[in-house]
Amino acid sequence: TIFIMLDGTVITCSAPVNIAVIKYWGKRDDELILPVNSSLSVTLHQDQLKTTTTIACSRDFQEDRIWINGREEDINQSRLQSCLREMRRLARKRSGDGDPAHGVAGLSHKVHICSVNNFPTAAGLASSASGYACLVYTLSRLFGVEGELSAVARQGSGSACRSMYGGFVQWKIGERADGKDSLAEQVQPETHWPELRVLVLVVNAQRKHIGSTSGMQTSVKTSSLLKHRAECLVSGQMDKMMRAINTKDFSAFGELTMQDSNQFHATCLDTYPPIFYLSDVSRQIINLVHCYNHHYREIKVAYTFDAGPNAVIFTLQEHLPEFVQVVRYFFPPESNEEQFLKGLSVDSVPVSESLKAAIGMEPVANGISYIISTKVKVHILSKSLFPHSCKLGPGFYSDLYL
Ligand code: DP6
Repeated sequence: TIFIMLDGTVITCSAPVNIAVIKYWGKRDDELILPVNSSLSVTLHQDQLKTTTTIACSRDFQEDRIWINGREEDINQSRLQSCLREMRRLARKRSGDGDPAHGVAGLSHKVHICSVNNFPTAAGLASSASGYACLVYTLSRLFGVEGELSAVARQGSGSACRSMYGGFVQWKIGERADGKDSLAEQVQPETHWPELRVLVLVVNAQRKHIGSTSGMQTSVKTSSLLKHRAECLVSGQMDKMMRAINTKDFSAFGELTMQDSNQFHATCLDTYPPIFYLSDVSRQIINLVHCYNHHYREIKVAYTFDAGPNAVIFTLQEHLPEFVQVVRYFFPPESNEEQFLKGLSVDSVPVSESLKAAIGMEPVANGISYIISTKVKVHILSKSLFPHSCKLGPGFYSDLYL
């Protein structure tokens, strides 16, 4: 245990994960992280999936440092540096505006950053979005910076800019070369569609896949489908998606979500050499969803997949219990029966023989590790542990990183 006298400030904030229903794939500027197309996402509830970041600043710190999920990481990574540099620049600008209230105590001090996710890393869920959104937001509270910050979060990870807002969020492509108009914007608040529910089906992953940053670089270089998608297709898909969300038309929302996910994975296949993010189980889930919807002659459930085999399912509250039972039946858990469904509780209902027959798939034992049941929710939360510039006693510092 190290005891360090800390004379500084400590702030803790948490930020949510978001799931794109119109995918971002491809950059026109790798440095500033400017996309080749606009995208649109749903921000998820923080009770089930969130990043929590605590940042301390003190004149006793010799250098900036960061710990992620308990392990020290390299603070010199360029994306971390971009966010730190940009937040300090904004803080200096504010403190230099002549208003003494804007004097920032910790600006000349080094920071120690500690970030943890409440969901297992093994889940293979993208944590860069909630991670960078949380880093930027916590720095903004520490340095007293207000205003539009999605452009800073974007420079950590593209999808992070959308986690700065709750509800339904678009990331506008923007036109400027400096990226100042490539920002996230709320389309509808989280209260807009309370019946919408989300299931994360965590697929048993056998191997590590190609990360989104390098995957999209290869796609931009080699895929003519990506070019066509970005130039001709996405803007129409964005308009239709916004209309579906505004009118709470689940059938249109679900269909557009599935089509955009498939188009993104088609782009990956069109990449040379091709990138495969979907696994056999992912494809079985796709098939199950289509058979389920076909049985009811209605789109009741929709899937979307990011740069990995896990499925995110959107449905309405009224259809949730039956669909969860269907997943349980066709992907029976081998041992963790009790632990299979995490998050928000779901009523248990029977599944009819006619529905099972309509799906007509052989059950795949252990194909899905577990399900996280969640919904749409709020944006970033912050909590100041200690007021500005309070004196912290010995021992506190070690607690912080436990
Ligand atoms: C498939 O935001 O992780 O999840 O900007 O290089 O950090 P970088 O990529 P990242 O890519 C996300 C890709 C996606 C689609 C999406 O979230 O829009």
